[in-house]
Amino acid sequence: MTAQTQSDKDRVIIFDTTLRDGEQCPGATMTHEEKIEVAELLDDMGVDVIEAGFPIASEGDFAAVNEIARRAKNSVICGLSRASPKDIDRCAEAIKPAKRRRIHTFLSTSPVHMKWKLQKEPHEVYEMVIGQVTRARSHTDDVEWSAEDGTRTEHDFLCRCVEAAIKAGATTINIPDTVGYTVPEEYMALFKMVRERVPNSDKAVFSVHCHDDLGMAVANSLAGVAGGARQIECTINGIGERAGNTALEEVVMAMQVRNDVMPYWTGIKHGMLTRASKLVSAVTSFPVQYNKAIVGRNAFAHESGIHQDGMLKNAQTYEIMTPETVGVKQTSLVMGKHSGRHAFEHKLEELGYQLAANQLEDAFVRFKALADKKKQIYDEDIEALVDEEIATAHDRIKIISLTVIAGTMGPQSATLTLDIEGKHITTQSTGNGPVDAIFNAIRALVPHEGKLELYQVHAVTEGTDAQAEVSVRLSENGRAYTAKGADPDTLVASAKAYLGALNKLTSKRGKVPGVENRIHSTDVG
Ligand code: KIV
Ligand code: ZN
Repeated sequence: MTAQTQSDKDRVIIFDTTLRDGEQCPGATMTHEEKIEVAELLDDMGVDVIEAGFPIASEGDFAAVNEIARRAKNSVICGLSRASPKDIDRCAEAIKPAKRRRIHTFLSTSPVHMKWKLQKEPHEVYEMVIGQVTRARSHTDDVEWSAEDGTRTEHDFLCRCVEAAIKAGATTINIPDTVGYTVPEEYMALFKMVRERVPNSDKAVFSVHCHDDLGMAVANSLAGVAGGARQIECTINGIGERAGNTALEEVVMAMQVRNDVMPYWTGIKHGMLTRASKLVSAVTSFPVQYNKAIVGRNAFAHESGIHQDGMLKNAQTYEIMTPETVGVKQTSLVMGKHSGRHAFEHKLEELGYQLAANQLEDAFVRFKALADKKKQIYDEDIEALVDEEIATAHDRIKIISLTVIAGTMGPQSATLTLDIEGKHITTQSTGNGPVDAIFNAIRALVPHEGKLELYQVHAVTEGTDAQAEVSVRLSENGRAYTAKGADPDTLVASAKAYLGALNKLTSKRGKVPGVENRIHSTDVG
């Protein structure tokens, strides 16, 4: 690895949009508390700008952006807004408590978007650009303007809009590849062209924002930087609309490892990347694919004999960066039922977790319970357990007990007791199979309209005593809520996963429905 020569002109601003574009993708909904936890980690990790949400979208979005703005220590806190004055003013109000704040306002400029989405003529769009940037500048000096669908925008019109936006006060100009359509050379040339043709282009920082529809988001982002952009918009684990956004960990490490050919640098503490990946995966319940670059489980695993032999002789034979660079610690401790609190804490540290004292306590109790049921506790078991701990820390509906009658002599039935906001309530339901019986019992105790969209089971490790990890996705009013549950008993894991998704769904609406007047229930609390 070459040493980095760091000149100011090569400093790349990292703009993280996990909490906005990332959260916008189906199923990745986060609760208020989860968003704050993610924002605090991003702030500590050295992210320059955190796009915390879209304040006009809902009261929940507003509250999350506002609270993140209040708590941020270093990062600029940014909110997204469309072109309307109401949107922009609401965004300004949400970010007001931040020490450093930015309004990001966008408008479509491509022919297809102007005609079908906005139903406006180019000259009207041009005027709106000036209006939206001027309005945003009345609230803050730090204004970003995005030409939505920029890569499919006609060049003359794009240059005119960019020039007008800068003249109206935009300090950052983003040219997004909204539909993931561009290729690296084309995107690099686009930035060169705009920067050369727009007379006042030196007054703004240019930004890339790429989607991964053709699997080129990271390559395109780096090409945009080679073309003169100095801000990259990205998300942890690459989550985002459709195929996702540019993965933060990938662009950061690409510039770090190949600094010889990409002499750019960022302020990201890359030793925290693994922890950030795990946290985002835990709170969104979006698994990280095993072979994902930088943060996938196999990213530093060497399976073949030839590779292992090479690694034993010199790690550089097959590793272009050490696992430690991105926060993966060499695991050493084997855990079992005799492992104490200190060893457990040490193991969590090795695995890249940092839990609050109360979460640590709960996780330790659950670890002990698991160790009683399962002889060997693998790292994957601990990861599943801790991910669940993080994801359920603020749940208002919790499982207390579950008994299921299954087998060939149906009907299958489930007796379930839940703790709903402190009250213990029990019901019994039957179903077409044990999982159906459990889900019917949950529906009886917490009536809701959520539609089950996904039910998936996989084993966390090998062997018949392995923990099952179940994923469930519920959807209601066009929003999807995904959660995972892990347990050596597949049926308990199923109940936990369904309740996880239901907790997210109900947290969007305020009070858990029907707690007071539930006909099937017996109050045992
Ligand atoms: O993909 C996109 O164009 C966006 C804009 C709002 C920047 O997310
Ligand atoms: Zn986007």
